[in-house]
Amino acid sequence: MDVLGIDIGGSYIKGAIVDVRTGELRSECLQVETPQPATPQAIIEATHKLVKLFNWHGLMGCGFPAVIQAGVAKTAANIDSLWIGIDVQKQLQQATGCPGSVLNDADAAGLAEMEFGAGEGRSGTVLVLTLGTGIGSALFSQGELVPNLELGCLPINGAPAEHYAAAAVRSREKLSWQAWAQRLNLFLNHVERLFSPELIIIGGGISCEYKTFFPQLKIESDLLPAHFFNQAGIVGAACFAAEKSHA
Ligand code: BGC
Repeated sequence: MDVLGIDIGGSYIKGAIVDVRTGELRSECLQVETPQPATPQAIIEATHKLVKLFNWHGLMGCGFPAVIQAGVAKTAANIDSLWIGIDVQKQLQQATGCPGSVLNDADAAGLAEMEFGAGEGRSGTVLVLTLGTGIGSALFSQGELVPNLELGCLPINGAPAEHYAAAAVRSREKLSWQAWAQRLNLFLNHVERLFSPELIIIGGGISCEYKTFFPQLKIESDLLPAHFFNQAGIVGAACFAAEKSHA
């Protein structure tokens, strides 16, 4: 079964058609820039533009960078605050004409990794972190997701961890790989103390560069790059929509 997966991120809105039985992409991955300011109207229009590039009218799943409860955005750390309280699912369905579901972007990435990727078959506590404009997090126990965990908000030196250790901070503050890895390590040690995960999976755009920074990380848990790298969110969003449509 093919489903269009969309990942709305701080810098790009990406999408691809996904075979939800295998997690494989059935089309190339297309993207449009995330409009700034990332207001509801601007993002909905940009997402609609992306959906039109696929000429898609079928089921669609969408990862969104906020706490999402029953399709509604509850937070707005890296997007315009006008999003809070908006039914993202309904707005996207109305604009695109595609039926579907919306979930937190990191939860989407986590679902893909647990089903088909680096977390496949792992039943202990697994933490999937996406490092990009912000820090997304998805926690699994016995393969079950605890949705909407916002570890990017954990305070480090009095500010949210994602302001200190997200991938975007490395470029913004022109940090060396070593300096950034030290920050990431501090964050990882902090979450290890809180959750004792057996495995941490790192996704997001920077996960393609894992060979550069993984050797500098000193943590107790097993550490793996996301199997789908930056496309995990697309795959997971599509799978989530498929599952919801059968529920
Ligand atoms: C948001 C999360 C999101 C993460 C990654 C954070 O700023 O609060 O909901 O998962 O960014 O996009």
